[in-house]
Amino acid sequence: SSQPKIPHFITLADFSSTQIYNLLVSSINHKNNAKYLNKSSGAPLAGKSLALMFSKRSTRTRVATETAVAYLGGHPFFLGSQDIQLGVNESLLDTSKVLSSMVDGIMARVGSHDEIETLAKYSSVPIINALSDKYHPTQILADLMTLHEVYLPQSASYNAHLTHPKETLPGLKIAWVGDGNNILHSMLVTFPKLGIHLSAATPKGYQPNTEVVAIAKRDAAKTGAKLSLTSDPKEAVHEADVIVTDTWMSMGQESEKEKRLLDFAGYQVTSELAKEGGAKSDWKFLHCLPRKQHEVTDEVFYSPRSVVFQEAENRKWTILAVIDALLVKKGFE
Ligand code: CP
Ligand code: NVA
Repeated sequence: SSQPKIPHFITLADFSSTQIYNLLVSSINHKNNAKYLNKSSGAPLAGKSLALMFSKRSTRTRVATETAVAYLGGHPFFLGSQDIQLGVNESLLDTSKVLSSMVDGIMARVGSHDEIETLAKYSSVPIINALSDKYHPTQILADLMTLHEVYLPQSASYNAHLTHPKETLPGLKIAWVGDGNNILHSMLVTFPKLGIHLSAATPKGYQPNTEVVAIAKRDAAKTGAKLSLTSDPKEAVHEADVIVTDTWMSMGQESEKEKRLLDFAGYQVTSELAKEGGAKSDWKFLHCLPRKQHEVTDEVFYSPRSVVFQEAENRKWTILAVIDALLVKKGFE
């Protein structure tokens, strides 16, 4: 058709390394302007609205998005699954057509990844994936921003805007110890593309999706990033700069709790694991949150090597950059 293609933000697999770096630079500038320089955004979204259509709970993604849209002068509003007709009286297709006829963007947290693809297919406005069972793209932008801040040579003050993320991220080694879930999938389609080494330990039966692994292998071959998949947590953390994990029970898997606790035995991130596996002595810890003690001890989680709360805050600045790109700049450079 002659309709211009609407930009969406569904998975980082769709974006080039340059586009990802540009989003990080934009996030860093927004943080600097809004938080440290107290600058107004000029309200470029005045009169515009963004619907948050969430079929699962959220603290970070919801608050990051609502405050980011407010900062840009727009109106965010939350539609939980108890509030709208979707899923009970109305299809996703019809909901997508109706909602997009009235709003300027939709941030959607869904169950199956097909749902976000259906939304994007039928929506006349940009769709942002706020988490699906396959991917969580906005989370990985926040992780990258946090790593950039941590590995800045001048880390004492917020002068991240002086150094390009391209200077700080490639060559890092990230080790995942946990479930082959949406967070790992998003890392797999992003880190190798940026030249970041990734090793992941997942228990047998919980390996990442093979199609996602194929993307990671293809990207790693292009950039020279090392990619390794194992079921041995010690092997994964060997020489790691960063160890990262997530809950063993993602939203919707609560009934599998007992089985998963058994299947993930030995996968808790501990100081001993890092030491015995030979992680770098100054290794850092990331976790998207919410966190349970199963996957990481308090000792690690609340230690100075843990940057999880900085990572959580950076959800706001990175989501702000994505909304700015989609709704203000109208595309990704
Ligand atoms: N990390 C993350 O997406 O958190 P919420 O589920 O609280 O949004
Ligand atoms: N893997 C988790 C991430 C939560 C932010 C889930 O899908 O529930």
